[in-house]
Amino acid sequence: MRAIDTNMQLSQTLFGTTFSNPVLLAAGTCGFGEELEDALDLRSLGGIVTKSVTLEPRAGNPAPRVVEAGNAMLNSIGLANPGLERVCAEKLPWMTEHLSGLQVFVSVAGHVPEEYWRIVEGLESTGGFLGYELNLSCPNDTRLGGLPFALDPEALKGVVAGARVLTDRPLLVKLAPNVPDIGPVAEAAEDAGADGITLVNTMPGLVIDVESRTAALGAGSGGLSGPALRAVGVNAVHRARACTSVPLLGVGGITDAGDAIQYLLAGASLVQIGTATFADPRTAQKVCKGIARHGDRTGVEKIQDLIGAYQGANRPLSVTEGAH
Ligand SMILES: Cc1cc2nc3c(=O)[nH]c(=O)nc-3n(C[C@H](O)[C@H](O)[C@H](O)COP(=O)(O)O)c2cc1C
Repeated sequence: MRAIDTNMQLSQTLFGTTFSNPVLLAAGTCGFGEELEDALDLRSLGGIVTKSVTLEPRAGNPAPRVVEAGNAMLNSIGLANPGLERVCAEKLPWMTEHLSGLQVFVSVAGHVPEEYWRIVEGLESTGGFLGYELNLSCPNDTRLGGLPFALDPEALKGVVAGARVLTDRPLLVKLAPNVPDIGPVAEAAEDAGADGITLVNTMPGLVIDVESRTAALGAGSGGLSGPALRAVGVNAVHRARACTSVPLLGVGGITDAGDAIQYLLAGASLVQIGTATFADPRTAQKVCKGIARHGDRTGVEKIQDLIGAYQGANRPLSVTEGAH
């Protein structure tokens, strides 16, 4: 599937380049592209975000690493990845050869700020990708001696500002859903130099096996993804849109075009799909076609007309009403 038969213009210019459509694959759910090459035409996508790259190779957490959790999935992969050196030697050359024209963000993770900066420095002279997505929000791999950077706006600012001076490429910052108000965190990312903000990473969760009374995941707790996360993600985008002006990337629980359109209406310029790809690798293509069909049916001429078009509550609350 290269071109979609539609009257709607799905392409847009962001970060100084063209995205042919707004649907990307999320970090950690499409490897470095190779893994999905036979299952779908990657170049039909708006882009991909790679598995998070760390300075050293990581073997990941003990099995089981994935378990069902109601209308969601809980994972604790532990950022298993080949490490910076092999990514530069093997993955990026493959991506340059096979994915040219596709917008690729390399996801970057670390325990301390210097690790993020060394990875960005290490990747800077290499081709095969557009920009970076700083994963400051992985619940399975907390920062050394503390919580993920995305739970601490001051610490987050330090990492982002340090990376900003090392690159002119687009710099995305990926935030966590489990904060009291994501608005100020998004603001901190923008202030520190982020070109775009990705919301949201997985939500910390625990599934207990009642027979053994132990965790269902080998590592104990994990990160919750899939449909149960969607309303949290859409709300996070809505809140970040009110507090920042950089482009937003919405992710969490998208399984069909309606889900993706909710993110666009809330203010996301691009969306990312993760868990749903495991059930059907062609989900992203179907979502893209579905957005076009929605546009044609409702007279939307271009994708920009959906972005941020959320109209607010459909019935104003009286003073005696509230969320409960
Ligand atoms: C198996 C798995 C591995 C993931 N690995 C990463 C990762 O390496 N880096 C990252 O930033 N997010 C990672 N994520 C989070 C996803 O990119 C995404 O933010 C989250 O799953 C919510 O989207 P979804 O509900 O569409 O899956 C991972 C998610 C899953 C399910």
